[in-house]
Amino acid sequence: MRCTVIGTGYLGATHAAGMAELGHDVLGVDVDPGKIAKLAAGEIPFYEPGLRKMLRDNLDAGRLQFTTDYDEAAAFADLHFLAVGTPQKKGEYAADLRHVYAVIDELVPRLTRSAVIAGKSTVPVGTAAELAQRATSVAPAGVDVEIAWNPEFLREGHAVTDTLRPDRIVLGVQGDSARAEAMLRELYAPLLENGVPFLVSDLQTAELVKVSANAFLATKISFINAMAEVCEASGADVTVLADALGYDARIGRRFLNAGLGFGGGCLPKDIRAFMARAGELGANQALTFLREVDSINMRRRTRMVELITSACGGSLLGANIAVLGAAFKPESDDVRDSPALNVAGLLQLNGAAVNVYDPKALDNARMVFPTLNYATSALEACDRADAVVVLTEWPEFVDLAPAVLAETVRAKVIVDGRNCLDIDRWRGAGWQVHCLGRRVA
Ligand code: UGA
Repeated sequence: MRCTVIGTGYLGATHAAGMAELGHDVLGVDVDPGKIAKLAAGEIPFYEPGLRKMLRDNLDAGRLQFTTDYDEAAAFADLHFLAVGTPQKKGEYAADLRHVYAVIDELVPRLTRSAVIAGKSTVPVGTAAELAQRATSVAPAGVDVEIAWNPEFLREGHAVTDTLRPDRIVLGVQGDSARAEAMLRELYAPLLENGVPFLVSDLQTAELVKVSANAFLATKISFINAMAEVCEASGADVTVLADALGYDARIGRRFLNAGLGFGGGCLPKDIRAFMARAGELGANQALTFLREVDSINMRRRTRMVELITSACGGSLLGANIAVLGAAFKPESDDVRDSPALNVAGLLQLNGAAVNVYDPKALDNARMVFPTLNYATSALEACDRADAVVVLTEWPEFVDLAPAVLAETVRAKVIVDGRNCLDIDRWRGAGWQVHCLGRRVA
């Protein structure tokens, strides 16, 4: 099949390469010529395991091309994916939909044949129906444009696997849809043959699946972090608690890791946009709990600073702190709303000298926080440290050798913000260990 993918950010670039990998002819479209030139040359402007190879393989095979030209996009295919960003509006909770509308306004008037536009971006419920009306009003005479919604659930760091082996495919279609389901079934045929569940719904349900999935994940993380607060107050151990809860199949262990909480470009903004949309719909009471989910999550960052302060003997003034991790999670170079970077900034604000190391996110971190010190290795960051703080659970940090690190630090004090370290190993090597949600003697 042929399809375009409009918007070649994280989501779009991955989807374009993924669809080409399934054997389709794909045209990636973006208004940013710099981004397009990079992708066409086989480079991705962010870190994502396996994506560069998939991109290059498919460029080489001639199944994948990139352009900034909407005329070319309109002529290329009858199936267009919309994968532009929907950031949080400045000073508001709501999502900024200007890029989504711009795609409809640019693409639809150029269409010469009937087409399906399948949205992948995360949007407030009701957006797809509005886009359908807009598309009808700007379509040339005789050109029928269907809007469908096909939300994306991929995780950064696992984007390639999530695209080629998704948990499920959800497709929302218009009430009078004639083509969308058949087209998408054909496109995803290799996945469907492998047994991936395919759910078809109306547009609103498909839009809601995405935001409610992220709201649920955020709630699960904040639930265990709320339990961590109670564990801290009562002397219990949140990691044992999470393991014990997780054996109940109805609860499950995944996404029950207590620590510094969630960040990134999705969960925080999505739960806020969801609250804003529920308010507009008159259903704000239904989601007031998400405000609490957000507060619990943000409290973890201040709690972490308190824990580090007490690990340093009650004051951060003049303390030399090694911060290991800047990305919002491992296997990513993304620092958007990163709890790690946030804590690093707060430590500096409280008078500490902060030396940050991250295997992939240093360049991005430097752009956001140019005043922190950046090291080129974990060992360098730990040079004469009064405390070593692990804020992103990169395997490299989990595997650090306590004896080696002991040679370079000023004090053998380590604070685990992600409950990812083998505490016995560190304590056995004479380190003082501090954790969120568990008391370590
Ligand atoms: C999230 C969802 O997991 C994806 O399904 C969704 O497609 C994506 O948002 C999106 O909307 O585009 P992502 O932001 O890549 O994916 O990251 P997650 O793996 O969900 O992690 C989010 C944050 O939660 C990270 O900061 C992570 O450290 C934190 N987290 C995760 C915890 O604190 N504890 C956990 O147990 C799990």
